[in-house]
Amino acid sequence: MENPVPDTTPQPIAPDTWLIPNLFPTGDGLFIPVNSMVIRGAEPVIVDTSAPLYRDHWRQQVFSLVEPEDVRWIFLSHDDGDHTGGLLDALELCPRATLVTNFFMVERLALEKPPLPLERMRWIDPGGSFDAGDRTLHLFKPPVFDGPTTRGLYDSRTSAMWIADSFPSLTPGPLNDVRELPGELVEESMRAMSSMVSPWHQWLDPTAYGRHVNAVEALGATAVASAHGPIITGGAVHEAFDRVRRLAGEPIIPPPGQDLLDTLIAQVLAGTPA
Ligand SMILES: [Fe+2]
Ligand SMILES: [Fe+2]
Repeated sequence: MENPVPDTTPQPIAPDTWLIPNLFPTGDGLFIPVNSMVIRGAEPVIVDTSAPLYRDHWRQQVFSLVEPEDVRWIFLSHDDGDHTGGLLDALELCPRATLVTNFFMVERLALEKPPLPLERMRWIDPGGSFDAGDRTLHLFKPPVFDGPTTRGLYDSRTSAMWIADSFPSLTPGPLNDVRELPGELVEESMRAMSSMVSPWHQWLDPTAYGRHVNAVEALGATAVASAHGPIITGGAVHEAFDRVRRLAGEPIIPPPGQDLLDTLIAQVLAGTPA
């Protein structure tokens, strides 16, 4: 019997900054986090919009923190489905919100969604920033990413960072701080999931890549939240950056293949799904 999916609730990351978590079961008692974020400042910001699967629970969590009509910004890190699930809802429910996206994201989303309102957008790429009233939010290219449009977000007021698909890790339950998770699970699953997300790490020159990772780390985040991992704070921030630095030039960690599919089918046929 598959473990029931535990309920999730908004978790504080930094002052006025909240993780919006959801969990997807992997079938072996573990879960993949599917997170987004809310910054409840002078001009509230929704950071990514989760996956279609969590449409209702995502809205419920986000709008328990901020009134829809108060939201002024919807920031999309990239156009993957697990980041754009609530996008149309958010645009409709939050009429004062400007969508922070970029050219290529809009091109790609045009193939799967109704036309997005160009007049409500701002196109900003890594290195750019926008002013959300009481804070400036800086965009950067995360160290690990699975979509070419990806940008992370750094809030210099709180030193909190949204690093999109970087720093992923499985979790045994609704544990949101990396210090609550077994260290071995974080170490192994972050390496394996990062390798799946960015298999190009095998061709990276460690020195050149190291310069990029150093530049992101030098932004100075003290709390790092991500779409598929725990909240990382304190000394664990440097450890996480080090973990991706070490991937440069290393062979990929092969993802599960036909053997796993055969096992899953056998379990289904036997009526005993994992
Ligand atoms: Fe992605
Ligand atoms: Fe993602």
